[in-house]
Amino acid sequence: MTNWLEIDTYAKKWIKEAGESIKESFSSELVIQTKSNKNDLVTQIDKGTEEFLIKQINTVFPSHRILGEEGISESLDNLKGIVWIIDPIDGTMNFVHMQRDFAISIGIYEDGVGKIGLIYDVVAGELYHSIKGHGVFMNDTKLKPLEKPNVEEAIIGLNATWVTENKRIDSSILSPLAKDVRGTRSFGSACLELAYIAAGRLDAYITLRLSPWDYAAGKVMIEELGGKVTSLRNEPLDLMTQQSFFASKPGLHEEILKKYLNNGAW
Ligand code: 2AM
Ligand code: CA
Repeated sequence: MTNWLEIDTYAKKWIKEAGESIKESFSSELVIQTKSNKNDLVTQIDKGTEEFLIKQINTVFPSHRILGEEGISESLDNLKGIVWIIDPIDGTMNFVHMQRDFAISIGIYEDGVGKIGLIYDVVAGELYHSIKGHGVFMNDTKLKPLEKPNVEEAIIGLNATWVTENKRIDSSILSPLAKDVRGTRSFGSACLELAYIAAGRLDAYITLRLSPWDYAAGKVMIEELGGKVTSLRNEPLDLMTQQSFFASKPGLHEEILKKYLNNGAW
């Protein structure tokens, strides 16, 4: 039988070590490259952090497979067995411009089911962690089950991109929601927005484009606390592709889908 506690212990050790090494890199010069577009950034620190994590996993758990944002490991076409889904730096733009508000995200899945979620906000020193069935913690503090807020009192993570002209959604669809909620926020790191929902700081997060490594860890945490994680069309997420994304406290998910998104038929 799989020893999830042992895997969790190693994963926590490695994510902390990777975080220390990222902090030390602040004094070195960044080599910044672009990927899919001029604002999709990657640095040698993203790549080095992914390489470090892959090396540790391969040494201690050679049968486990890895899906990483920087694509350094073999590419996967299924999620059979135990798969580590890794974003070495989520919020690379924040890392490059602000040296804060980025995180390392590790989700560990077995046959496509989330078992462990770790999100490490390196600069704040906040490690969010969860083993399925055993609760969610921020450092040593146990996080509470999520409760339903009203739309009028909700703060949602929503980037201005999706309420101005863009390629993926008619900007008039989400603007009534942006008007009705108490506030919108955009932190620039999807995995941190998910950790904030788990911690109760944010009530929902909506985006039209997310990759599995951005949400693999956060999904474990939000579901463990009773929240919902789907596409913006209310479909289950497919960890093999990029998709729209909607995570929310319970109740609010249904209300937003019904009132603003025509139950996913937009
Ligand atoms: P990254 O920093 O790891 O690239 C910014 O709003 C959020 O969206 C970040 O979590 C960022 O992750 C993610 N993001 C940026 N470019 C993306 C892309 N091309 N596809 C999917 N997610 C992306
Ligand atoms: Ca990244």
